[in-house]
Amino acid sequence: MELYLDTADLEEIREIAAWGVLGGVTTNPTLVAKVFSAKGERLTEERLSAHLKAICELAGGPVSAEVTALEAQAMVEEGRRLAALHPHIVVKLPTTEEGLKACRALSAEGIRVNMTLIFSANQALLAARAGASYVSPFLGRVDDISWDGGELLREIVEMIQVQDLPVRVIAASIRHPRHVTEAALLGADIATMPHAVFKALLKHPLTDLGLKRFMEDWEKVKP
Ligand code: E4P
Repeated sequence: MELYLDTADLEEIREIAAWGVLGGVTTNPTLVAKVFSAKGERLTEERLSAHLKAICELAGGPVSAEVTALEAQAMVEEGRRLAALHPHIVVKLPTTEEGLKACRALSAEGIRVNMTLIFSANQALLAARAGASYVSPFLGRVDDISWDGGELLREIVEMIQVQDLPVRVIAASIRHPRHVTEAALLGADIATMPHAVFKALLKHPLTDLGLKRFMEDWEKVKP
């Protein structure tokens, strides 16, 4: 399973990319808005384009950039503009009627699409039939309403295998490291997670303690 960062923050991407384990990045309008609000910068088309290009350069792999249009033709036009920014761009579309139409049109042009806001296996099936390269089931938001995000992911992964559908599954809306392990065991192709969860994957108190002891013992005898 590949590991993606779910962020639009350049520093977060730079830090994790340096570990050598980053497969790609996913963004959404909320994440982009957070970065520009924090900078106190007004978002313009030019600034957004430059920011997305910078993410692509740092990520070194697929970068999902989400459209904000809601009508199919406008989604297609926005998607084409986004895809033209950088070869790493994957156009992210909401799983709606208009999103399906736009997915069909963009994928027919060879533009990769990530269908987002997926909360059922049937939505994933529709997205795959519309030519999506990726589907993004939202684990955490399902768990948030006391349903089972893991079960949603299990159904989607199994359905794609049984039906032999040419689409990759991105486990999204990851809230904690355990979600990442579960996604890997369930056969997700990719898990996309916030920076804090990425950092938490590495942390273990026994690793820190073990290293401290090794260094203390070494200090006593080192040449
Ligand atoms: C998917 O790509 C989304 O950006 C993301 O995972 C949403 O997660 P959230 O529920 O933490 O907002």
